[in-house]
Amino acid sequence: MVQITLNTLKRHRAENTKFSVVTAYDACFTRIASEAGVDAILVGDSLGMVLQGHKSTLPVTVADIAYHTQSVAAASTHCLIVADIPFMASATTQDAVDSARELMQAGAHIVKVEGGSNLADLIKLYLDQGVATCCHLGLTPQFVNQFGGYRVQGRTDEAAKRLIDAAATLDQAGTDVILLECVPNHVTDAIMKVTTVPVIGIGAGPSTTGQVLVMHDLLGITPGKSARFVKNFMETADSIQDAFKLYDQAVKNGSFPAAEHCFEN
Ligand code: KIV
Repeated sequence: MVQITLNTLKRHRAENTKFSVVTAYDACFTRIASEAGVDAILVGDSLGMVLQGHKSTLPVTVADIAYHTQSVAAASTHCLIVADIPFMASATTQDAVDSARELMQAGAHIVKVEGGSNLADLIKLYLDQGVATCCHLGLTPQFVNQFGGYRVQGRTDEAAKRLIDAAATLDQAGTDVILLECVPNHVTDAIMKVTTVPVIGIGAGPSTTGQVLVMHDLLGITPGKSARFVKNFMETADSIQDAFKLYDQAVKNGSFPAAEHCFEN
């Protein structure tokens, strides 16, 4: 398969076509996702919850993400690899530089940072050093303690405006990709109008360029009640491999996310 690059994602945005992203943290599932035709792998700090068993993503370190990024990079046949900058790992300029260096040298193609319009300076720093970035907006799990829980963001007019303005600011600051988590469809639609870069959604409605799911969610093995935006693809799959394929196809043909996976407000 042809290597997916940032240019591939940009082409999807320009041509209004879809791409699929899934989290993976090891060689085995990266191989399965690659063979299923998934375009990009996110080595997310969700690994703190789904692999390490923590209650949040806050304990995850740069060394953890680097370790898993190496395993993903070793097995990926063509996928673009996005790696998370963990909690407080870009708090100072030196931390930000050190974290991105470690993740890019581990095999990441893009680093993902959580925040809002405050990320503009960080994006510029990375841009100058040749580091491609994805800005994660909306429900940013590293801010769970400020949010008081994992809640849909952008529900009031004021909060929606803050998110839309942040997306426009970061697009202009030079971010390469935006990821929107748990925001109402109309907020995503407005963000699509004020941005030019590829936008990946999770619980952000159908209008984004790409979709991402945590692999344990798409396989239906995350304990407890699933979030509204999750679809268990194992329900109709014959195998784990098939579930990844069904997810990839559903994203690309626009059948996922359906209305039942979205937030109207
Ligand atoms: O860490 C992660 O897996 C993520 C996704 C939920 C988008 O950030």
